[in-house]
Amino acid sequence: MVTDSNGLIGSEVVEYFDAQGWKIFGIDNNMRASFFGAKGDTRWNQKRLEANCRNFVHHELDIRDRTGVAALIQPLQPDMIVHAAAQPSHDLAAKRPFDDFDINASDLSHLKAEMQSRGITRTLDDIFEELVANWHERL
Ligand SMILES: NC(=O)c1ccc[n+]([C@@H]2O[C@H](COP(=O)([O-])OP(=O)(O)OC[C@H]3O[C@@H](n4cnc5c(N)ncnc54)[C@H](O)[C@@H]3O)[C@@H](O)[C@H]2O)c1
Repeated sequence: MVTDSNGLIGSEVVEYFDAQGWKIFGIDNNMRASFFGAKGDTRWNQKRLEANCRNFVHHELDIRDRTGVAALIQPLQPDMIVHAAAQPSHDLAAKRPFDDFDINASDLSHLKAEMQSRGITRTLDDIFEELVANWHERL
């Protein structure tokens, strides 16, 4: 499962795992169009993935919708969740602080809780810390 599937990072993740034969469930609600107007619209990327990937299914869902996220994860039982959906602009964080916090901070916690309740105990945060530690060792 990949959040940010319409976005830059998420769509790359979708293509990477699709090429390896995984079944991918994307979550995105095109919030980028709300952040950046028509120029930020990501539907073109969603359509590109739907046309080109072998095993990609898009789910229109706001990651702040805790009940919706839980209801989607329950039947799908994903092996892995890559969570990258975000409000990516520092300037907008100042202009839309509540959206910024709800999307970038609080939602990670409920996605994490969903993952942990399904026995997925390692998160990208843990892996990131490992990667940074390994990187420091090599310096
Ligand atoms: N682009 C980079 O070079 C880069 C590098 C390092 C880290 N990152 C981080 O990776 C994350 C994703 O970055 P990106 O470049 O893919 O951003 P992006 O703006 O291209 O994509 C973000 C996606 O999240 C979706 N989204 C936002 N809010 C949502 C919500 N509430 N529900 C569902 N979907 C929602 C948007 O519609 C959009 O498609 C960010 O945290 C960013 O800081 C990006």
